[in-house]
Amino acid sequence: MTRLIDGKAMAANLRASAARAVSGLGFKPGLAVVLVGEDPASAVYVRNKGKATIEAGLNSFEHKLPEDVSETKLLSLIELLNNDNTVDGILVQLPLPAHINAERVLNAINPDKDVDGFHPTNVGRLWTGAPTLAPCTPTGCMRMIRSVVQKIAGKEAIIVGRSNIVGKPMAAMLLAESATVSITHSQTIDLRERCRTADILIAAVGRPEMIRGDWIKPSAVVIDVGINRVSKEDGKSRLVGDVAFEEAVGRVQAITPVPGGVGPMTIACLIENAVRAACIRRAHPIPEM
Ligand code: GUN
Repeated sequence: MTRLIDGKAMAANLRASAARAVSGLGFKPGLAVVLVGEDPASAVYVRNKGKATIEAGLNSFEHKLPEDVSETKLLSLIELLNNDNTVDGILVQLPLPAHINAERVLNAINPDKDVDGFHPTNVGRLWTGAPTLAPCTPTGCMRMIRSVVQKIAGKEAIIVGRSNIVGKPMAAMLLAESATVSITHSQTIDLRERCRTADILIAAVGRPEMIRGDWIKPSAVVIDVGINRVSKEDGKSRLVGDVAFEEAVGRVQAITPVPGGVGPMTIACLIENAVRAACIRRAHPIPEM
């Protein structure tokens, strides 16, 4: 019997726990989200983030800038948010338009307000094992892995995908828990055989159903980070992961569904990071969440 890892329920619990923590703080953490342009998927994410932020009792500051905003203007806004004492966390929604240097923008965020954990200072802290704000998606994945794997130490973890947002930080987190970690990607030779060795398989390539059921061993725990919209024969569309779910379910030990798996956990971990950032910046003990 395959265990379904219910990200939606886990996320609801984490958000409720964060809300309880916030109500006991004596101050209201503030999270600023910056959206540039009109990308529909990004707009949905930002709306959901704003809703979850308010529901958890935080202040939500949304800054929507036009697609053609200059990099200088965006950097000025970041500077303003860095210096605003009511703002504890800053998130710039990616991707940014091509005329903006995303690296320059992310590097401009005060690392102590960097709730995405993308600033090089925080990347360095994560890889050296120092306390840090860590990227939300892999943080959520770790929580889901821990919910089904008793002992991560020594396990073979295969990550498919090498992004700065998921693949690389995921590797740092699994390594910190003493898994044996490999990052594979589109140019990996014999990817299928690599995947077959995984006790923990993280799929984060962004290719619909690329990882087939027979690429996964029965004892494996599968975390599917992919959110791909594909069209159906009736002209409508549906969301699928990077793993062929129907082939894997019934075959593997545990798997996250898409939708309802990793996605909701990312937002819950963002709220947790915002609360953590607020507590650290205000020298308040970090509550259990
Ligand atoms: N775009 C896709 N995922 C993310 C994320 O985790 N953070 C930000 N800022 N943008 C994203």
